Amino acid sequence: MKPVYVLNGPNLNLLGLREPAIYGSATLKDVEALCRAHVATLGLAIEFRQSNHEGELVSWIHEAREKASGIAINAGAYTHTSVALHDALKAVDLPSVELHLSNVHKREAFRHTSLLAPAVSGVICGFGSDSYVLALTALHSLISANKKG
Ligand code: DQA
Repeated sequence: MKPVYVLNGPNLNLLGLREPAIYGSATLKDVEALCRAHVATLGLAIEFRQSNHEGELVSWIHEAREKASGIAINAGAYTHTSVALHDALKAVDLPSVELHLSNVHKREAFRHTSLLAPAVSGVICGFGSDSYVLALTALHSLISANKKG
């Protein structure tokens, strides 16, 4: 079975150091380990990546068309700005989940809009590192049911 791509956008390399009151003390490596432990229980494999560059994220979504069974994406601030990521996700006929550590709807108004939400199967936010676990569980259900959501 093809892996699920878990894609992380800008500034998420600083997880654990960056605004811990909002994003928690776990590092991105810790989040990756949590994801790997969780997918082992589901019988899924993951490809876990982070980039600060919008175009690189677009290219990884294109790559996922052939190589992945689904996409979980925390696009960070690009969530709120990127038509390119919206279009890339629309171009990929795969189950996909947008996720966020924080509850973006409780925060500044500019975080209340997601350009990605209309292009994905569903959205999970506000559960810290567990947002990744929940996103992978949701993707597993969609993939098992052979649905895009
Ligand atoms: C985030 C929320 C975004 O608004 C923010 O720009 C991030 C992280 C989250 O995981 O809570 O970088 O995606």
